[in-house]
Amino acid sequence: MLIPRQTLAFDFKGAHFDLESAQDRKFLAWVFDQFLYGEVTGIQCGHWLFHAPHLNAATFLSKQAGEELSHVRKILRIFSILGEKPSPAHPAIRFMSTGMMGGSWGEHVTLEMALGEGLVLTAFYALADTLQHPELKRILESAITEEERHVTFGENETFKWLKSHPSERKLLLGLALFQVMALQKLKNFISRKLLSTGMAEHLVLSKFPEFYDHTIRQLEIRIEMLGLDSEKVLQSSSWSRWTLIASVPFRMFLGKLRRWSIDRPKLLTQTYLEDPTVLSEFTPVGPADRRPEEFGN
Ligand SMILES: [Fe+2]
Ligand SMILES: [Fe+2]
Repeated sequence: MLIPRQTLAFDFKGAHFDLESAQDRKFLAWVFDQFLYGEVTGIQCGHWLFHAPHLNAATFLSKQAGEELSHVRKILRIFSILGEKPSPAHPAIRFMSTGMMGGSWGEHVTLEMALGEGLVLTAFYALADTLQHPELKRILESAITEEERHVTFGENETFKWLKSHPSERKLLLGLALFQVMALQKLKNFISRKLLSTGMAEHLVLSKFPEFYDHTIRQLEIRIEMLGLDSEKVLQSSSWSRWTLIASVPFRMFLGKLRRWSIDRPKLLTQTYLEDPTVLSEFTPVGPADRRPEEFGN
């Protein structure tokens, strides 16, 4: 991963949740409501498996679908331990996970995998560090290992996409900036929720504003490390950022037009014979290896 765990994780200085507190369990259930929705959006792997640009991606996505759906079950087990029933996710989470579903492979790997799953990972690290219950910790750590692989795959595919589609850099940056903006809005909602439920003084949650700022900063660093912000828009005026965000619908329309007319993506059933996996795995054996005795007959 571009950013290792020790950098991505926030230091809660040993503070932890108390599962014997009903208030803590309710808050944690609200957090897992958001994750549960995100994990169910793993069904989108099916869409991207059909549109996978190469065999290696198809193999990865078919495995990822199984992992995301196993995370659904793991989170349901967490709800059982908390003694709370799952509820709907916040509209901002639903919009970022489903409403912003990518229109191209580049949008999917950048926005949903490298950046989106990178965000989920930061929150998983925070929960693994602030929950002491051994089974909860174990569930989170096993999901973390898989999410780290998803992020790494997203990062590598983003680099490849930018190399072959440099004109889409600004569209991806505009969408990433929109993600940052939506997260800033969500921060206000969560801060108000903490105040209204009297949890602003909580051992862990009193560190929430710092944790949230750290998470957004790491997201911005990942945007830079992915090479999306070559013109340093993140560090320029809010006017430049807004202008870029406002241009997103137009850039998306252009991208659609290009995919429809000149750069129409092909399915693997049309391209598999030229696929790097097929080419690299075709290694003819020598005549001796075709003799029956070599098969143990
Ligand atoms: Fe997941
Ligand atoms: Fe994932």
